[in-house]
Amino acid sequence: MVPIIRRIDPEDWARARDLRLEALADPAAAVAFLDTLEVARARPDEFWIERAARASHGGEALQLLAEDGETLVGTVTVLVQGAGSADYFGAIIPERRAILVGVYLAPAARGTGLIGALVERAVEWSRAQGLALLHLDVHADNPRARAAYERLGFRATGHEFETAMGHELQMARAL
Ligand SMILES: CC(C)(COP(=O)(O)OP(=O)(O)OC[C@H]1O[C@@H](n2cnc3c(N)ncnc32)[C@H](O)[C@@H]1OP(=O)(O)O)[C@@H](O)C(=O)NCCC(=O)NCCS
Repeated sequence: MVPIIRRIDPEDWARARDLRLEALADPAAAVAFLDTLEVARARPDEFWIERAARASHGGEALQLLAEDGETLVGTVTVLVQGAGSADYFGAIIPERRAILVGVYLAPAARGTGLIGALVERAVEWSRAQGLALLHLDVHADNPRARAAYERLGFRATGHEFETAMGHELQMARAL
């Protein structure tokens, strides 16, 4: 079955939480997500309810879900960050921008082209918000993600930095 891609609904919060916990338990998690399974598991329901609600409407955040029958098999999120706000690491963002985060496919959905379909939907939405660039940060030692992003039109901006995960690279794609 070809997965359906749709924006998250507030009622999806528990399933989206479970998908996030699955992502954080993935062998790639150490080079994919700043969050940890331990921290995420300890979060109260309100955290997940608020997160799903925020990404389900409006122009501040978009979470897309890929659904294969009853099963969620992938997700990406776009966050819109205002000029002058601080990023995760405390650096001031010079101009309003969109950043792609929380990129995850269930193992069986990898290598199927689904990531391309999710990213295209994320690109369309970001464009509709009047943004010119879609950014993302990827770990230097996550070659599969880097190759996928390159193929989907993202290019290294030259900005590289250290996080709790290690060495990361910024990439961006024109919208
Ligand atoms: C990252 C992710 C979304 C990519 O989706 P995907 O369906 O696996 O990606 P694709 O198979 O379409 O593309 C990956 C490319 O890397 C290649 N590849 C696979 N393993 C590789 C490796 N170890 N080293 C280098 N390239 C690799 C694939 O052959 C493919 O090449 P192609 O573009 O020439 O076809 C998915 O693998 C995933 O969810 N990974 C775990 C979570 C994660 O890392 N998220 C990203 C955080 S930034």
